Amino acid sequence: MNAKINIAIDGHSSCGKSTIAKAISKRYQMRYIDTGAMYRAICLYCLQNNLISKNKIDETLLEVHLPDIYVEFKYNADKKISETYLNDYNVEGLIRTLEISQSVSLVAKIPIVREKLVLLQQKIGKNKNVVMDGRDIGTKVFPHAELKFFVTASPEVRANRRWEELRKSGEKVSYEEVLSNLKMRDNNDINRKMNPLRMSKDAIKIDNSNISLQDQNDFIFSHIDKILKI
Ligand code: DC
Repeated sequence: MNAKINIAIDGHSSCGKSTIAKAISKRYQMRYIDTGAMYRAICLYCLQNNLISKNKIDETLLEVHLPDIYVEFKYNADKKISETYLNDYNVEGLIRTLEISQSVSLVAKIPIVREKLVLLQQKIGKNKNVVMDGRDIGTKVFPHAELKFFVTASPEVRANRRWEELRKSGEKVSYEEVLSNLKMRDNNDINRKMNPLRMSKDAIKIDNSNISLQDQNDFIFSHIDKILKI
């Protein structure tokens, strides 16, 4: 199937947007694009090239470097997932750390970075069949997406899920550190001047603090089936 629709999934940090997007991608054979990974990859580049120091980013130097920063996704057939590449290096294992989470908002608020990534995301979605998650997909990237979801959950529930994930990946962090980072990113996402996190008027809201994954999927799939007339 090649679905002639795009699906936008926006919402707060760590509320399970990627889990939803992956489930949709698998069920409807749609291409999944994790736009947070793109901002994270640029943040990794900035850290590797000393463009970020003491929680400040050198915007002038980043502007010089930006044309040489290539972010793309390649499908890993063995793992059956799409992986993030930065200038031809697979950075999938490097971009989900707390260090990146603590600096990525600095990168995400820079207008030239957003312009570059939004254009790239729109190009990827030009021929439809894409499910994309982020913060500004329904409002800015695909304002005419056929289906939009806005996902949220309480900060404590989200922090707990994220903490479990980080611990499983071997990172030594406390729950309090994760919660405070999450609240900081919510604040940055909501108050960013360019393309802040907002629920699009035509989005369907899902608060998954107290619902099972199965119920959430059933709800989402029923909306997609309706649009696809399955
Ligand atoms: O979804 P995530 O936590 O991996 O996203 C990483 C950061 O990138 C997050 O702090 C917000 C930012 N982001 C954004 O500003 N716009 C997007 N479309 C996606 C992510």
